[in-house]
Amino acid sequence: MLYKHILKPILFMFDPEAVHDFFTSCGQWIGRHAVTRKFLGIVYGYHGSDISKTVDGITYRTPFLLSAGFDYNGQLTRTLEHIGLGGEEVGSVTARPCAGNPAPRLTRLPKSKSLLVNKGLKNEGVDAIIKRLKQARTISIKENQPPFIVGISIARTNDEQSVPIEAGIADYLYSFKRLNEENVGDYYTVNISCPNSFGGEAFATPELLTRLLTALKSIPCTKPIYIKMPINVLWERFEALLKIIDAHGLQGVVIGNLNKDYDSLDVPSEAPAVFKGGLSGKPCTHLSTDLIYKTREVYGKRFTIIGVGGVMSPETMQEKFDAGADLVQVITGLIFEGPGLIKNLGKAYAQNRSN
Ligand SMILES: Cc1cc2nc3c(=O)[nH]c(=O)nc-3n(C[C@H](O)[C@H](O)[C@H](O)COP(=O)(O)O)c2cc1C
Repeated sequence: MLYKHILKPILFMFDPEAVHDFFTSCGQWIGRHAVTRKFLGIVYGYHGSDISKTVDGITYRTPFLLSAGFDYNGQLTRTLEHIGLGGEEVGSVTARPCAGNPAPRLTRLPKSKSLLVNKGLKNEGVDAIIKRLKQARTISIKENQPPFIVGISIARTNDEQSVPIEAGIADYLYSFKRLNEENVGDYYTVNISCPNSFGGEAFATPELLTRLLTALKSIPCTKPIYIKMPINVLWERFEALLKIIDAHGLQGVVIGNLNKDYDSLDVPSEAPAVFKGGLSGKPCTHLSTDLIYKTREVYGKRFTIIGVGGVMSPETMQEKFDAGADLVQVITGLIFEGPGLIKNLGKAYAQNRSN
């Protein structure tokens, strides 16, 4: 109520990136003090029956995670653990710091329940983020509760230097190696599907994905590795990628990234004249759910599936689980509906399980 009816109408009057930065600063402040963390937990925490879930050996206190792109510099781990999330995906992080694409990097499309995202992998770079996450290692809020899980999404630095294939592979490899050396991150997601960076989605082809995964295998890693999949591809191409992921023994897939089909907006007239980037939120819903369903149908339990795209309500969350997702991620839903959404997802999930 507080967010949707009072805060959101005010916040939505300002530039989305400025609001995001403001929220990050407030969130960091909240995370620094025990009393504000506790208050946040009382208001927005999930306090129902046990809905923890173990996936690939990791126990999540709730099966909902914040998707990559919100806490891209890893500044909010101490805060986010109090709003009913089982974890978050920090990043995408890149080998070198990256300023992102020229502004505007974010445009709200509220009638279509979507954001036009042209962030271009803005982040402080893997080394700075490792340092921050090491300092902030989260502690379970209550005894006997699983820790807040921090997955890390890795992408290729968005600059000309990393466009040649060998340089791109070296870029991913550097981040992956550093994270493993420092033992930072509970799982890793390799983002091969960022629609708005230099060189495009180069590694979303079977040949180049094979080269990338072969290179990554040279780094010892004991944690689950997932691939963040594109959603604007036909099933044949999607399956060709799944076969490679299977052959390389990776644990699973995050389905999926932003939608590049601009015709999928409910209200196209609210979009800017020139489109740059990808669409989040509602336009992702069916594309991602269909791909989750087909992956589960064809591959059975072979892959862990993290379902993401258009989860804005308990109903859309349930659709992802029904289609076969093991865990669900949210980002646009949180921005449009506020932190109360996560608490509601928890309640609905617990209710559905008890029926
Ligand atoms: C502001 C914003 C930034 C994003 N940045 C990233 C990113 O850095 N890496 C990534 O893998 N996905 C990124 N995404 C995609 C989301 O993680 C997610 O896959 C997509 O938005 C669909 O989920 P949603 O409908 O809940 O927003 C971003 C999305 C948004 C809205």
